Amino acid sequence: MSRIVVEGRRRLEGSISVQTAKNGVLPVLAATILNSGVTVIEKCPKLTDVDVAISVLEGLGCRVHWEGDSLIVDTSTATGTAISCELMHKMRSSVIFLGSLLARMGRADICLPGGCELGARPIDIHVSALEKMGAKFTSEDEIISCVVTRRTACELVLPKPSVGATENIMLFAVSCKGTTRIINAAKEPEIADLQDYLNALGFRVKGAGSPVIEIQGKGELPATYVRHRPIPDRIAAATWLCAGAITGGTVELRSARPEHMKAILDALKESGSSIYVQGDRITLIGPPRPKAIRRLTTAPFPGFPTDAQPLFFALAAVADGRTFIEETMFENRFSFGPDLARMGAGVFIRGKFAAIDGTTKLTGQPVVAKDLRGGAALVLAGLAAEGQTIVDQAELIDRGYEHIVNTLSLLGASVWRD
Ligand code: UD1
Repeated sequence: MSRIVVEGRRRLEGSISVQTAKNGVLPVLAATILNSGVTVIEKCPKLTDVDVAISVLEGLGCRVHWEGDSLIVDTSTATGTAISCELMHKMRSSVIFLGSLLARMGRADICLPGGCELGARPIDIHVSALEKMGAKFTSEDEIISCVVTRRTACELVLPKPSVGATENIMLFAVSCKGTTRIINAAKEPEIADLQDYLNALGFRVKGAGSPVIEIQGKGELPATYVRHRPIPDRIAAATWLCAGAITGGTVELRSARPEHMKAILDALKESGSSIYVQGDRITLIGPPRPKAIRRLTTAPFPGFPTDAQPLFFALAAVADGRTFIEETMFENRFSFGPDLARMGAGVFIRGKFAAIDGTTKLTGQPVVAKDLRGGAALVLAGLAAEGQTIVDQAELIDRGYEHIVNTLSLLGASVWRD
């Protein structure tokens, strides 16, 4: 168990570079299986979720090593088809290895990802799309086995624009001769990043970022050397901006992609921050006290991201007025609410709705991170609180933030590991 201690009430000020996107690098790591060669992932973030993905790749027979901040993945030696239950439980998104294993090996044996800290998180959309393309699923106890009986390029209409299902379909479709069209595909920037990597491998994929993605499958997989640098992390970027806003500070982000963050930047402006964008730099000047945002509703991209919702919940905890939040993606995404209430905010939660009455008097408390972004929200609240906030189970925060303590210290926060 690891703990992060925050001594609050310091105005943050400084300039930092944004880490590479966790949700960008994980599907690319899964996609490396499609290549019987070597992929160099530049500026690969050192996250515990990346460590889990490396263990998955090694378990499948790949050779993986770091050279500075590049991750070198040699997938020429891959022969395995199984991902252990232990690894699947550590990271539910290991399910995105399904598509590339089916494409390369014709088979995948994974453990039912089941529920996670955010809620049920079913994979029915993944399964029904892959079945339509020719995969056959059987399950026994916790294990799902999936075998390719045919490889049929086809048109798939998703009932919801699921990020993971869109990725799994793209990964399998490259091995199906002909054109696969995904209608109502996820439009997140990480999907476009995956498209870029697949095209660098020699596949022909277009449309990512729009609701229709077209994959021209070749029926054969490459053996090549490719370098890829995934996009910056828009949720980590949102975290540092919220840290500036919650402390009335000034934060400059370098190497950001403001075009991926419109809904986040609009929400920060609504809460009284001034935002200046110049190329890949974003500067935030926080107000003396944030204003309540009238209503925040999470939605698929380009809507307000569910992963940033906890961060803005923390901002609402100090804002002037009442903020309403509707969480439409995951049913258990207010786990930090009771901790924020103990710190002094007015928090009312009913199902997928929350109302937050901000206070100028948050006080530090021992709190417990229940999930990655909820944990980050508690750290943010600690930055604004009087006294010490001790965030337990901080290892959950390390799933998605590279050196969170160092980054906040660079901005002048008083924060350390216990
Ligand atoms: C990805 C992100 C996660 C983010 C989420 C939504 C990664 C590694 N994770 O997760 O950080 O919060 O997108 O932006 O990229 N659903 C179904 N059936 C399915 C699949 C999904 O009902 O088969 C539902 C989910 O329960 C959820 C919604 O669809 O309500 C969106 O989920 P999805 O986009 O699939 O999220 P993930 O890919 O799991």
